[in-house]
Amino acid sequence: MYQPVLSFPEGFLWGTATASHQVEGGNTNNDWYLWEQQPGRICNGDRAGTACDWWNRAEEDFDRARELGQNTHRLSLEWSRLEPRPGEWDAAAFARYRQMLAGLRQRHLEPMVTLFHFTLPIWVAQRGGWMNPETIPLFTRYVERAVRELGDLVTLWCTINEPVVYAYQGYLRGIWPPGRQSFPDAIRVLRHLLLAHGEAYRLIHALQGSAQVGLVKNMLYVEPLRPASWLDRKWAGFMNRLYNELSLIAVTEGRFLPPLGMERVPKLMDSIDFLGVNYYTRALFGVDKRQWMNSLNPRLNTAGVISDYEYGEVFPEGLYRILKHVQGYGKPIYITENGVPDADDDLRPYFILTHLAQIWRAIQEGVPVRGYYHWSLLDNFEWSEGYRMRFGLIEVDFATQSRRVRRSGRMFAEICQANAITPELVERYAPEAMEAVFGAGVPSAVKEVG
Ligand code: FCB
Repeated sequence: MYQPVLSFPEGFLWGTATASHQVEGGNTNNDWYLWEQQPGRICNGDRAGTACDWWNRAEEDFDRARELGQNTHRLSLEWSRLEPRPGEWDAAAFARYRQMLAGLRQRHLEPMVTLFHFTLPIWVAQRGGWMNPETIPLFTRYVERAVRELGDLVTLWCTINEPVVYAYQGYLRGIWPPGRQSFPDAIRVLRHLLLAHGEAYRLIHALQGSAQVGLVKNMLYVEPLRPASWLDRKWAGFMNRLYNELSLIAVTEGRFLPPLGMERVPKLMDSIDFLGVNYYTRALFGVDKRQWMNSLNPRLNTAGVISDYEYGEVFPEGLYRILKHVQGYGKPIYITENGVPDADDDLRPYFILTHLAQIWRAIQEGVPVRGYYHWSLLDNFEWSEGYRMRFGLIEVDFATQSRRVRRSGRMFAEICQANAITPELVERYAPEAMEAVFGAGVPSAVKEVG
């Protein structure tokens, strides 16, 4: 009898991802803090506030991550803590990060550290933030300091988290700080972020030979809204290029292509050791002739399975196709984020299993995926969505700071510990995923004879 088991490569990294402002609490010196004070900016008037109180109790959750079988954790450094005023470094903040990173290591959780995850010190934002080219040298000065102080504890560095999402939300849709709606501004910001990535990449390698440095790129699986429409197909192709491709071409081939620019950027050539892929959903793009700006908004396939608050369609196959595509860039890959808002946890087990099956399938076909970071370890402050969207493997009661491991968290723990997915596990946690995990969705799954 054939016993299908999806085994992952030896040494595969299993963990979760978080970001400073979303979990630390008490971050009052960054642009998001100011944004949250403005009425109407955040859903339900939420503010990050104490968040998950990680500045005081991250280690308690590191213990939980360890107990849940994980062997890595991705977190980010809060620039506004480390450099509260221009050129002034906060020794206590560095010490706290040292303690956290050492704490991860002690628990055999390999740290992956993001240097910019959406928040800027207020003083940098006041100087124009990423609109201002002067932010690039300011960023590299902070990166230099961070690597000098913390580099002995970190091998895996991520420079910038999701540059396109950042430019899009803050400068095109205007729903994140600084709330602008301008295509040229968004492009300018994206250019500066990519240039900053290139500078940081060279700098980190100059300081630390052993470092592995990557860019974290949100990838949407893009399709035309109306496949029969020539215009929608063209438009979806353009959006795919803009959203997914241009940044990757920039950091591998060292050139900007329209509308990002039209020039060679030698410093960006071959400037990633790995690619971080954040994958959440499929997005449909179509031309809206009456309201042009609508054409820029991704639409959901309403026939699909949709997660809480219409955050996204659950479309695991998209991850496989993206992995097959980015394989062409010839770099090792980490899935640096993948997750679903699902407060009652009835979708998350299915979501995790089906996405992991697609990753497994890609690995069988030679795609060098080295690790998987679920977003997130625990519920946290979800930017303009506030606290309503629940992405955690662990549920958080923000009034009491109490934690409860969700079923999906226990399931993920079993997968991490076994480094594999078995039908028995699928049967116990999400039998409805059986077909998608071991059946038609993953045709080459039946491998091992039991
Ligand atoms: C990503 C962000 C991360 C989190 C998830 C849900 O775009 O990188 O901080 O908000 O979405």
